[in-house]
Amino acid sequence: MMELLASIGCHFRIPLKTMWLWISLVLVLQYSKTVLSDSNYLIGMGSYDITGPAADVNMMGYANTEQIASGIHFRLRARSFIVAEPQGKRVVFVNLDACMASQLVTIKVLERLKARYGNLYTEQNVAISGIHTHAGPGGYLQYVVYIVTSLGFVRQSFDALVDGIEKSIVQAHENLQPGSIFVNKGELLDAGVNRSPSAYLNNPASERSKYKYNVDKEMTLLKFVDDQWGPVGSFNWFATHGTSMSRTNSLISGDNKGAAARFMEDWFEQNSAKSDELGTDEIPRRVSTIISSIHNNHHELLELASSFQSSPGKPATRVSSAARHVRSALRQADKPGFVSAFCQTNCGDVSPNVLGAFCIDTGVPCDFNHSTCGGKNELCYGRGPGYPDEFESTRIIGERQFNKAVDLFNTASEQLKGKVDYRHSYVDFSQLEVTIPKEGGGSEVVKTCPAAMGFAFAAGTTDGPGAFDFKQGDDKGNPFWRLVRNLLKTPDKKQVQCHSPKPILLDTGEMKQPYDWAPSILPVQIFRIGQLVILSVPGEFTTMSGRRLRDAVKTMLTSSGSGEFGSNTHVVIAGLTNTYSQYITTFEEYQIQRYEGASTLYGPHTLSAYIQEFQKLASALIKGQAVEPGPQPPDLLKKQISFLTPVVMDSTPAGVNFGDVSSDVPANSTFKRGSTVTVVFWSACPRNDLMTEGTFALVEILQGKDSWVPTYDDDDFCLRFKWSRPSKLSPRSQATIEWTIPPSASLGVYRIRHFGAAKRLMGSIQHFTGTSSAFVVA
Ligand SMILES: *[C@@H]1O[C@H](CO)[C@@H](O)[C@H](O)[C@H]1NC(C)=O
Ligand SMILES: *[C@@H]1O[C@H](CO)[C@@H](O)[C@H](O)[C@H]1NC(C)=O
Repeated sequence: MMELLASIGCHFRIPLKTMWLWISLVLVLQYSKTVLSDSNYLIGMGSYDITGPAADVNMMGYANTEQIASGIHFRLRARSFIVAEPQGKRVVFVNLDACMASQLVTIKVLERLKARYGNLYTEQNVAISGIHTHAGPGGYLQYVVYIVTSLGFVRQSFDALVDGIEKSIVQAHENLQPGSIFVNKGELLDAGVNRSPSAYLNNPASERSKYKYNVDKEMTLLKFVDDQWGPVGSFNWFATHGTSMSRTNSLISGDNKGAAARFMEDWFEQNSAKSDELGTDEIPRRVSTIISSIHNNHHELLELASSFQSSPGKPATRVSSAARHVRSALRQADKPGFVSAFCQTNCGDVSPNVLGAFCIDTGVPCDFNHSTCGGKNELCYGRGPGYPDEFESTRIIGERQFNKAVDLFNTASEQLKGKVDYRHSYVDFSQLEVTIPKEGGGSEVVKTCPAAMGFAFAAGTTDGPGAFDFKQGDDKGNPFWRLVRNLLKTPDKKQVQCHSPKPILLDTGEMKQPYDWAPSILPVQIFRIGQLVILSVPGEFTTMSGRRLRDAVKTMLTSSGSGEFGSNTHVVIAGLTNTYSQYITTFEEYQIQRYEGASTLYGPHTLSAYIQEFQKLASALIKGQAVEPGPQPPDLLKKQISFLTPVVMDSTPAGVNFGDVSSDVPANSTFKRGSTVTVVFWSACPRNDLMTEGTFALVEILQGKDSWVPTYDDDDFCLRFKWSRPSKLSPRSQATIEWTIPPSASLGVYRIRHFGAAKRLMGSIQHFTGTSSAFVVA
């Protein structure tokens, strides 16, 4: 009781005159706590930078060898929540701004959690899920087929993920406090379209008629409310691909979901900054800059700006970058930061390029059945709402998800109540017996097959067409690829029949040189938090596949008669979780063999196998029984091969320092909001230091006469850090920093800074910084 009194006084500064007032206040608070919040869980949120190498590394997703990272659009993060029953079980969910989860990353994170916490966090109750951005550095997966275009394994990509996930979970663990969780759902209509409607149409008409749309439009959101701090975060699931950024983009980006998360976290921090009664010294910097600068008129500002010429590059430390990172500088020391994650679900056939797919040569819509233009797939591209600007498309699809999430967040009222529980099993999908209903009654036993990819895989999709002469919906294949494939592994008759009608391009499940090309052991996992059930799947379910899986599990839970699950049971699929095994279509979609069908690795009965295995988990959950752990997936870290060469050294021309400005802003210049300021610095390879939780680029505003305050960094949508070198083997390089002045930027004097790290010939890393001349925004 005394502790509670003290904390009320400290946080709300209520002038309490009498003891009676104290007591009645406490009674009211305790009453409202039991009635309104009824906090029944411990909740904790965490978030950490996982931005990998911003140079030289192939981007994961499009399998385009020419898509090499060369800068940052905005940073990638691992966002986590932990929910625990005070005396019971707990679950951890991590959402990654990455293309997908990786088996090897999951294995190594679990090892680190074991070293820290013993058996508190294991494969059973930890889920690690990817948002499916196609604009993050690759090379962090262990199976060959996923690291071909990245020239093998990329240790730096891998380490950034493992370190960041671990730190994000540790943060969530340390933030665990009593709190409540609310769930809300709503429709978002304009953020996804079906990119393989011809395959969807092959599903039975009776089934299709149950649904209004050919993609799922529902967003499911969790709102986390800490008893002490109030709202501390939200996680939501909505199906749309992370392909707003194209296959030629080279800037690291969280695509539409990463953007939505950035927007929502900033929205919350700025909102709470306005509504909290903070002292002036606690007002976040962006707000205070507005206050300080409106006193100056344009002439005075120009005068001020002209006294700050660009300063030459000079030595710095790693800390100087992190210290200027805008969002860390804003954070109150003891208050947990607001964490908002936009998670992926059954996005298999869902494109964010909502305007449809068109031929780039003629401008007419692509062929409906094959997504081709005059018979060629490489001319057919989906268009986002910001077409032809992919950054705009990313912003718009991100904003649509963000707006819907804010809506659901503000109106969430259904509280999660009940047990926290989970089940997890490893299943060998290469030869699983699956019992399915037989046409005309009864049941039959069918089998999955060792993994293989069909010819239409190489055609890519309308979000990123393949470069080869393949058509989607091809059931014959071309002789060149048949030849290449034969050099690798000729599938035997049994394998061919098992996958039929898929024509096999790569028999990945039977290719073991130099190590496994594709996974065969996959994790399936179910979490329960009260009436919410999360199904962690290691791949991309199509719309209808997702519906079938959710329905099967929900039916099993609600009809069990246990009384634990009522009609308010919410089932969500967490896509691309724990490991990656490409796509999962329905049996009927599989027959059409578009990209998604060709990438359904374990044959036509893959979905039925998932449904069977998830029903086992659900049944065990209801009955309180254990499940078989299943065979362990391999740890292939020691076998990984890498062809990516390390940074040899960085240099500058004679008389030039690292960080010197090579192209400054024009002298005494004034920029309008909406225009773009560009400054070029002499720089060094960003692989020398990822500047984790720091920044490569910074916009500062002048406060008073000589105090520079960070306002935007490389985690901001409006600031782009682009890195380039004149030729592939040159030790010289430049950083181009582009700031598109947002409409919300305040009037004032600004300058642009660059942070970097250079490698000397002998291998030591030297941090540096450089600064542009000042300019005025009016
Ligand atoms: C697509 O293929 C189906 C089945 O072969 C055919 O009936 C339909 O006419 C085709 N649609 C178009 C627009 O070519
Ligand atoms: C910039 O402005 C300052 C002060 O107003 C002036 O002294 C200087 O000559 C100007 N420079 C240029 C290049 O116009």
